[in-house]
Amino acid sequence: MSAQDLVIVGCGGHGREVFGIVEAINRAGPAPAWRVVGFVDDDPSPANKDRLDRLGAALLGAVDWLTGQGDPPAYVIGIGLPAYRRAVGRRIDAARPAAAPLVAATLIHPSATVGPDSRIGAGSVLFAGARVTTDVTLGRHVHINQNGVVGHDTTVADYGSVGPLAAVSGSCTLDEGVLVGTTAAILQGRRVGAAATVGAGACVVRDVPPGAVVKGVPAR
Ligand SMILES: CC(C)(COP(=O)(O)OP(=O)(O)OC[C@H]1O[C@@H](n2cnc3c(N)ncnc32)[C@H](O)[C@@H]1OP(=O)(O)O)[C@@H](O)C(=O)NCCC(=O)NCCS
Repeated sequence: MSAQDLVIVGCGGHGREVFGIVEAINRAGPAPAWRVVGFVDDDPSPANKDRLDRLGAALLGAVDWLTGQGDPPAYVIGIGLPAYRRAVGRRIDAARPAAAPLVAATLIHPSATVGPDSRIGAGSVLFAGARVTTDVTLGRHVHINQNGVVGHDTTVADYGSVGPLAAVSGSCTLDEGVLVGTTAAILQGRRVGAAATVGAGACVVRDVPPGAVVKGVPAR
């Protein structure tokens, strides 16, 4: 099977980490799964352009480059913050006729694990060492960062992010666009409302309302 063309949206640090995941998937072979055509970014900084050069990766243009293609490659959104990832994702969806949507690539690093009866939505990315156990549902464009853990029977809705080394316990519900910060913990069964932010290192012991920012142990 030949490699599928892929564009990464966003050439910041997170997007370039996603590039590294694609390389790891390709190395794990039997044959490369993806051919990275390049990156698109509405506002690439000079430093990030240099970094792309060092990676040998092309900057193709702004995000509209992707949606304007007649025979479009698959894409993945390499943007860390859920609010920005969601804004770009909605723009991409809106720019295409419903009959011809773009294909969002689902990327799972070879060192990540996914347990039985779990569902990983289109466009979602599991970074190195991510752990998704059993009966987990990840929506579209969800990112589980390095060594992030999502326990049994948990749902992470569209555009959610679980930070590096963060742990979401079993039977939790993370509504759309939630950010769980680096090393944070969510106790079992808790619900985190849409677009809420859980600070780095926090321990969530009560449900978090939509849009709230909570931090500390216990998180307030
Ligand atoms: C909690 C958070 C959202 C607050 O952001 P903010 O409102 O810009 O916060 P500020 O930097 O202005 O700090 C406000 C106060 O909160 C404290 N604070 C900030 N982050 C904190 C955290 N994670 N835990 C405890 N206290 C924190 C600051 O020390 C400061 O305290 P002070 O008023 O007594 O000086 C942010 O600091 C955070 O933790 N984000 C998560 C980032 C992350 O892990 N991303 C994942 C990467 S993939």
